[in-house]
Amino acid sequence: MKLLITGGAGFIGSAVVRLAIARGHSVVNLDALTYAACLDNVASVASNPDYAFEQADIRDRAALDRIFAAHRPGAVMHLAAESHVDRSIDGPADFIATNITGTFNMLEAARAYWTATDKPATFRFHHISTDEVFGSLPADKAVKFTETTPYDPRSPYSASKAGSDHLVRAWHETYGLPVVLTNCSNNYGPYHFPEKLVPVIILNALAGKALPIYGDGSNVRDWLYVEDHADALLLVLEKGVLGRSYNIGGENERSNLQLVRTLCAILDDLRPKASGSYADQITFVTDRPGHDARYAIDPSRIRDELGWRPSVTVEQGLRLTVQWYLDHAAWWQPLQARAGVGQRLGTKA
Ligand SMILES: NC(=O)c1ccc[n+]([C@@H]2O[C@H](COP(=O)([O-])OP(=O)(O)OC[C@H]3O[C@@H](n4cnc5c(N)ncnc54)[C@H](O)[C@@H]3O)[C@@H](O)[C@H]2O)c1
Repeated sequence: MKLLITGGAGFIGSAVVRLAIARGHSVVNLDALTYAACLDNVASVASNPDYAFEQADIRDRAALDRIFAAHRPGAVMHLAAESHVDRSIDGPADFIATNITGTFNMLEAARAYWTATDKPATFRFHHISTDEVFGSLPADKAVKFTETTPYDPRSPYSASKAGSDHLVRAWHETYGLPVVLTNCSNNYGPYHFPEKLVPVIILNALAGKALPIYGDGSNVRDWLYVEDHADALLLVLEKGVLGRSYNIGGENERSNLQLVRTLCAILDDLRPKASGSYADQITFVTDRPGHDARYAIDPSRIRDELGWRPSVTVEQGLRLTVQWYLDHAAWWQPLQARAGVGQRLGTKA
């Protein structure tokens, strides 16, 4: 099938592009190439005859209409978004424009194209979203996010993603657009932009810098290897029930402090310091405003209905990730010079 994938030069989108090509799909990668993008993420497929790249902004409706008409995709996987919570605190406007208005443009362009092509039964609009739309969970391990958990977003980022989810459901109910939605937990893995927690910790550790932990490090996240997420996304695209949403998570809850200590232990093993442990560099810094206490996904629906399982444990995935960063300095070094990377953001609340 020919897939129009938005945000395919970003972290998760590029994993989906690489996997889709490996599985024999054709891919049109639509990306504006913002500060978070890197075309090196898709260099391994760039010369494949089944791959095409379109630099375009989802805020530009005319560009979207042109791309739908030129490429005639069989399905859309919509990942393009502003994705960094700390940046959303300092500058929410871009999050509203891209995540809400941009998704509106994608829905309208897809609806116009789907209607003009006689509403093919196989067409799908897959909207990729986050568990952050559900808000913050109590510490009680029995409570997890399901697909019926009420939305309760608490940051500009999660509120903008919640808004986009509501639009997608409305376009299904009102116009019959064939949609599926997914809400995933925190991803980590290769090509993760070096402003997010896992790469920040690995790269600061290697540079001998402080390893910053927000607050007391007790905030819990549910970690999933990015390639397992990409696998789940292609499965939902192919087999998900129309109008339905699927929560995706690896059932790997870790506090931020536990996660950072695990990364330090892996680094101590793979690239030992002359003396001491990388954990000696851990430093506690002022907490993020409105920092959600806990996220945890109940993945029963995607597991029971579609048979999805993650392929690696979080310890295996983190080891693969640390090794990847050790082997790919040529990828991450230039990205560290991009605006805002390496700075404390999200303090302007
Ligand atoms: N990272 C996570 O842990 C996580 C978890 C669950 C869901 N998600 C969702 O998955 C999607 C991808 O996340 P990511 O971490 O890969 O993000 P990312 O920031 O790494 O990549 C986003 C990509 O979208 C592109 N983009 C941004 N604004 C655009 C615009 N106006 N027009 C066209 N392209 C634009 C960027 O250039 C970039 O390539 C997002 O929708 C995010 O909400 C992320």
